[in-house]
Amino acid sequence: MSKLIAPSILSADFTKLGEEVNAIKEAGADWIHVDVMDGHFVPQISLGVPIIKALRNIPSPPMDIHLMIDNPDGCVETYIRAGEPLVKGITVQFETCKLLHSTISKIKSHGVMAGIALNPLTPLSVLEEIYSYVDLILIMTVEPGFAGQEFIKSTVNKVKQLRNIIDKLNHRPLIEVDGGIKLENINDVVRAGADVFVSGSGIFGTNNYSATIKDMRRILEIS
Ligand code: DX5
Ligand code: ZN
Repeated sequence: MSKLIAPSILSADFTKLGEEVNAIKEAGADWIHVDVMDGHFVPQISLGVPIIKALRNIPSPPMDIHLMIDNPDGCVETYIRAGEPLVKGITVQFETCKLLHSTISKIKSHGVMAGIALNPLTPLSVLEEIYSYVDLILIMTVEPGFAGQEFIKSTVNKVKQLRNIIDKLNHRPLIEVDGGIKLENINDVVRAGADVFVSGSGIFGTNNYSATIKDMRRILEIS
């Protein structure tokens, strides 16, 4: 399957969000990564339902919604409805879920991909019972909460281990990486076996989104 690039709008210029999202679509982004933060699970409050509703009214790539919020079970459907029909998937953090089976079932009942995210120091062993239920596993390569942090190198090995495990399964969820991914280090995570690459400041922090995405894709294709 071809590798996917998902720019995170957390690093976009919010004074012209419509133009930014349009530019990223024109630049060839596969998905747009939407980071929802609640000020509880992570220190910052970022964006939520009103922005997601607005995105579906502009030319936007499919939305890859990453919920960094406590107890998402009660509100996953609100986010899906807000972004319909542009929601590609909803990813919840393992550390926040008390009712994971229920949460995943609700997400899938709307026909969108269900993802589970693990913080850098949450071990892969917690996934044992989860693999067959999810479509995507997101390995956080920084601590969640902020854009522009430095990539945590030890997560490369975690991605490699996850690739080995998934390759032996019948049902193979996608591996997504998120945090500190840039042109300079994307090679490390693609070689480790990731399928989907989130990049915020690594794309929005450059002055030519199209050239950056093209350069990233070239690296993904030759790795
Ligand atoms: C971090 C978010 C990331 C972040 C990525 O909590 O989940 O998606 O926006 O931004 P960069 O690529 O700048 O680390
Ligand atoms: Zn994210």
